[in-house]
Amino acid sequence: MCGIIGYIGNREAKPILLRGLESVLYRGYDSAGLSIRDEKNKTTHYYRSPGKLENLKKKLDPLSIGGTVGIAHTRWATHGIPSEENAHPHRDCHGKIHVVHNGVIENHAELKKQLIAEGHRFFGQTDTEIIPHLLEEEKKQNPTMNTRECLRRILSKMEGAFAIVVMDADGPDSLFLARKESPLLFSYNNEQNEFLISSDPGTFYLYPDIAQKVVAMPPETLVALGGGKIEITDFESKPQSPISVPMNETEEFAQKQGFPHFMAKEIFEQPKALRDTLSGRMISDIAGVKLGGLEQQKESILSKEKIFLIGCGTSFHASLVGKFLFEEFADMEAHAEIASLFRYRKLPLHPKRDLALFISQSGETADTLGCVTELKNKNILCLGLINRVGSTIARECGVGIYQRIGPEIGVASTKAFTAQIANLALLTLFFGQSKNMSLSDRTLFINTLNSLPDIIEKTINILDPQIKKLAEDYSKFTNFLFLGRKYNYPTAMEGALKLKEISYIHAEAYESGEMKHGPLAMITDQFPTFFLCPNDSVYAKNISNMQEIKARSGPVVAIATVGDTQVDTIADQVLYLPPIYEPLSPILYSIPLQLFAYYMAVLKGYNPDLPRNLAKSVTVQ
Ligand code: G6P
Repeated sequence: MCGIIGYIGNREAKPILLRGLESVLYRGYDSAGLSIRDEKNKTTHYYRSPGKLENLKKKLDPLSIGGTVGIAHTRWATHGIPSEENAHPHRDCHGKIHVVHNGVIENHAELKKQLIAEGHRFFGQTDTEIIPHLLEEEKKQNPTMNTRECLRRILSKMEGAFAIVVMDADGPDSLFLARKESPLLFSYNNEQNEFLISSDPGTFYLYPDIAQKVVAMPPETLVALGGGKIEITDFESKPQSPISVPMNETEEFAQKQGFPHFMAKEIFEQPKALRDTLSGRMISDIAGVKLGGLEQQKESILSKEKIFLIGCGTSFHASLVGKFLFEEFADMEAHAEIASLFRYRKLPLHPKRDLALFISQSGETADTLGCVTELKNKNILCLGLINRVGSTIARECGVGIYQRIGPEIGVASTKAFTAQIANLALLTLFFGQSKNMSLSDRTLFINTLNSLPDIIEKTINILDPQIKKLAEDYSKFTNFLFLGRKYNYPTAMEGALKLKEISYIHAEAYESGEMKHGPLAMITDQFPTFFLCPNDSVYAKNISNMQEIKARSGPVVAIATVGDTQVDTIADQVLYLPPIYEPLSPILYSIPLQLFAYYMAVLKGYNPDLPRNLAKSVTVQ
């Protein structure tokens, strides 16, 4: 978690670092800080603030801070509360070595004990604080060694995952970067007299002039930047090659474009996101698909019989829809897996038979990445379904498809979810066309996918005022149940997740048939249910379950098909959606639930883009 920014060049570092922090804010936002080296005045400016980045900005705005080398950080607390003492950068005893860190140093307690015994003073509880002190101690023990060499020596003492950037007053025009697992990138201009460092590729769109070349650090490498030079080695000092990252998204996506929040913008741009993600991938003549990213390994991919779809959070919910699609249409055994659980299970895996598909918007989620490493070691073919181009999981998988929907900034995933399902439908066609998926099913898939962007465009504008009003009507309730069956069970899970993560209202999802095995006991007139009830193959069963809730006085908001005359006689409120082919209905049915969560959060005065305690990219396990 956490966001890292660094800059070396000839411009004032302060505004570049602050703007850079905004682009990595989604990785954590419970405190922020920066250090800037002013070589002219031989000082290092050092500021930290708990809470939102705004607090740090308020502190810095009135100050004129010289200095053209600096590091900055926005934190998502893992060790210690979000306080000024725990905010990064952290310093050594003499305030000369400044460090920002992303990841977790697992043996920090032991190292801290040793350092305290050696006389080092600590002020906070974070694992990061040991790093400048370890470096200080190493330099003290080896006075003839330079900072880079000392840094190399301490890396082997730290266990866990990290990306760190070090600024040392003894090497004033350089920054030192080290990476083990957690991602870290840097960019430079052709003259190599300006460098920008970030934990996220998105930052580089802000500064195309310093991002003529963007490089991702390979795992377990150390980089020294500055003085017009780039030195990359592994932890044993062997030179390493940089990994170039293509920059093919534009900054336009990173603006709110007139919407009050990124989340609203991302909900409303779903028609465009779907058009972009589908464009050029479907071949109507053969009712099939061509997926460029899979072509090279097509034969090997198609030879597999069993697929594990692995992800976290919203991406896991998409993988559940994918599981149903693969089972029903691609003639494959399919398993949807939560990455943090899958990693620690002992499953019989067979490289000849099995395939893994990793679903991740950011391409950086630590648990998902951990599974990639695990399965690659077991020689399982790993495919990625990723949004962020050049992200770590995309690079590690090497094979897969990109979502191509532009950055998703709102912490609560919306457009990434619907585009993930659309891509899972494409993947189903990819397998189905070479197996025995019927021409009529393939045609239905293609026609539905083609028509969805227009359907959503029309529907969303009709639904918007209705759902805003619905949120007002239901804002007094503190608990919600979300029910759906078969394809819309994952939709219900996603609806409940949206509501709890941004409006902090308790919500849980159940498969509607399972509701009578426990959750029904909670139902009263104070416990409303959202019921996903399209006119599909499980409609009659859903109607019975809805009646069971009404028989216990539970308020019901149903989402049903236009023209349905029955639901209205049971539910308290009904939102109507156009008829849609059942297997792809989660794409349409998730949208009213996204809007409901959004309006609930806004009504309660919360910022839906930056919900408390969360972060967009979860890079801790
Ligand atoms: C975080 C985000 C969610 C996201 C999940 C998985 O929890 O807040 O929106 O679904 O991580 O992220 P990924 O980038 O791997 O899809």
